[in-house]
Amino acid sequence: MEIEEYIAQHIDEEGEYLHRLYRATQTQLLYGRMASGHVQGRLLKMFVEMIRPQNILEIGTYSSYSALCMAEGLQDGGMVHTIEIFDELEDFTRPWIENSPWADRVKFYIGDAMEIVPKLGIKFDMAFIDGNKREYVNYYEMVMQHMNPGGFILADNTLWDGHVLEPPAEHDEQTKGIMAFNDFVAKDTRVEKVIVSVRDGISILRKM
Ligand SMILES: C[S@@+](CC[C@H](N)C(=O)[O-])C[C@H]1O[C@@H](n2cnc3c(N)ncnc32)[C@H](O)[C@@H]1O
Repeated sequence: MEIEEYIAQHIDEEGEYLHRLYRATQTQLLYGRMASGHVQGRLLKMFVEMIRPQNILEIGTYSSYSALCMAEGLQDGGMVHTIEIFDELEDFTRPWIENSPWADRVKFYIGDAMEIVPKLGIKFDMAFIDGNKREYVNYYEMVMQHMNPGGFILADNTLWDGHVLEPPAEHDEQTKGIMAFNDFVAKDTRVEKVIVSVRDGISILRKM
C-alpha cells in the first residue's frame, strides 16, 4: 500500500462536498492532479485551525479545492482571498465556491496575483503560494510585503517530485523556478523555514 493511501485511510474524511468537487475536477478539467486532494486538503484545514488567521491569501485557485479546505478551517469572520489567472476556469470554479457551505468565507478574484494583491490593501496572516512554479521567487517577494509579522507563508510543490535533487534540464523552467525559490528562502533571514515532505513538498515559512 502506498503511504499516501495509508494516510488517507487514517485521517479525517474530506466530506461529501469536497469529494464531489475533487471528482469533478478530475473528470471535467484538464490537469486534475493539480488539485490538492484529500490528504493535503485536511492538512491545510488543520494549519488554518492552528494559525487561526483572519485573512488568508491563495495564489492559484484552480478548481477551488484548497481554497475551500482552508475556508472550512476558518473561524467566524475569517476570509480566504483566492486568485486565479486563467479566466476560463471561472465558469467551473465560481459555482463550486458559491454553492459550498463556506461561500461567505471566500473571495474569488480572476487575474494575475502579482497585480491584484498589491491593490487589495490587506495584511495577511497566512498565504498559500500555489501558482506558476517559474514565478515562486517573485510571488514570495511580493507576498512578503503584504504579510503581518508572525504570519505564515505556505508554498506548495517545493520538492517537485524529487527533481530538486538533480541538475535541471536546460528548458525545465519549472524545476529551475522551484530550486531558485528554495535556495532564496534558505538564505532569507526574514523568515523561519521548514519543508515537510507531504505529497510534493510544502514549505512553511514564518515571517519574523
Ligand atoms: C496547482 S494549480 C492550483 C491548485 C489549487 N491551489 C489546489 O491546491 O487545489 C495552479 C493554478 O495557479 C494559476 N496561476 C498561475 N499563475 C498565476 C498568477 N500569477 N496569479 C494567479 N493564479 C495563477 C494557474 O492557472 C493554476 O490554475
